[in-house]
Amino acid sequence: MELTQEKQPAKDQLQDKARLWNHALGFIRSMSLKCAIELGIPDVLHNHGKPITLAELATFLSIPPSKTPALGSLMRLLVHFGLFASHSYQGGGEEESYFLTSTSKLLVKEEKACISPLALMALNWTMLVPGHQLGKWFTAGAARETPFDMAHGQGLFGEANVRADFNELFNEAMASDARLVTEVALLRRQWEVLREVRSVVDVGGGTGTLAKSLAKALPEVRCMVLDLPHVVATVDEEEREGVEFIGGDMFEHIPPADAVLLKVWYPPN
Ligand SMILES: C[S@@+](CC[C@H](N)C(=O)[O-])C[C@H]1O[C@@H](n2cnc3c(N)ncnc32)[C@H](O)[C@@H]1O
Repeated sequence: MELTQEKQPAKDQLQDKARLWNHALGFIRSMSLKCAIELGIPDVLHNHGKPITLAELATFLSIPPSKTPALGSLMRLLVHFGLFASHSYQGGGEEESYFLTSTSKLLVKEEKACISPLALMALNWTMLVPGHQLGKWFTAGAARETPFDMAHGQGLFGEANVRADFNELFNEAMASDARLVTEVALLRRQWEVLREVRSVVDVGGGTGTLAKSLAKALPEVRCMVLDLPHVVATVDEEEREGVEFIGGDMFEHIPPADAVLLKVWYPPN
């Protein structure tokens, strides 16, 4: 039987309130992560090679002294969220120093498994604004319209076509995932299954991370990437590394090839 508000013990109600505030302010978690990546904190901690004090971190990041306490608050939050860890040294004064955890190692740029580009894409305002449309979408959205369509007046790939900044962000996010998958594929010798084919086309292959790795591993195979013209246009001639890039719409034409690759990206669950 449900308890009425009057009968509910005060302690439970406090817990419920705390739970709700946790949800309502949950964006602080993601915005702190975004801020840490944008400032390059994981890279500084990595390059420093030992725990770093707040003052040292502020110097590395060129944060003015007036904002160093705010940087301290950010670090405290990120430690609380498990992204960084901290030591307290009991010297002349008690000084906190920070270091990476196994989670934040995945935010270091030089790590093969770095997910920073994906996090920056997911937390870009372009991806967040549709969330504000969700309620309206349930009641007023057309059947085939997504909250993204409602917010931007077009789909994700249409938006990337007209906004170079978002195009770059999205392509880099996809490339970072492809780098990891490519690494795993190479390690497991997955390309061997393609040794017998003469040509491969990676449909929706983005900026060609996967196809370039394939071309390197199997130089005798003709490797192609089909992607939308605004994506292909971002790949310079000298960056193509033996891969043919074709700008087009896969629903209209797919270049003939012995094998077709179709790699999509979904966040792990
Ligand atoms: C989710 S991304 C995946 C990129 C890449 N395959 C990967 O996994 O890293 C989808 C890709 O498909 C491309 N794409 C979307 N619609 C397309 C279409 N109609 N024809 C060709 N490519 C398309 C996008 O530009 C984007 O690069």
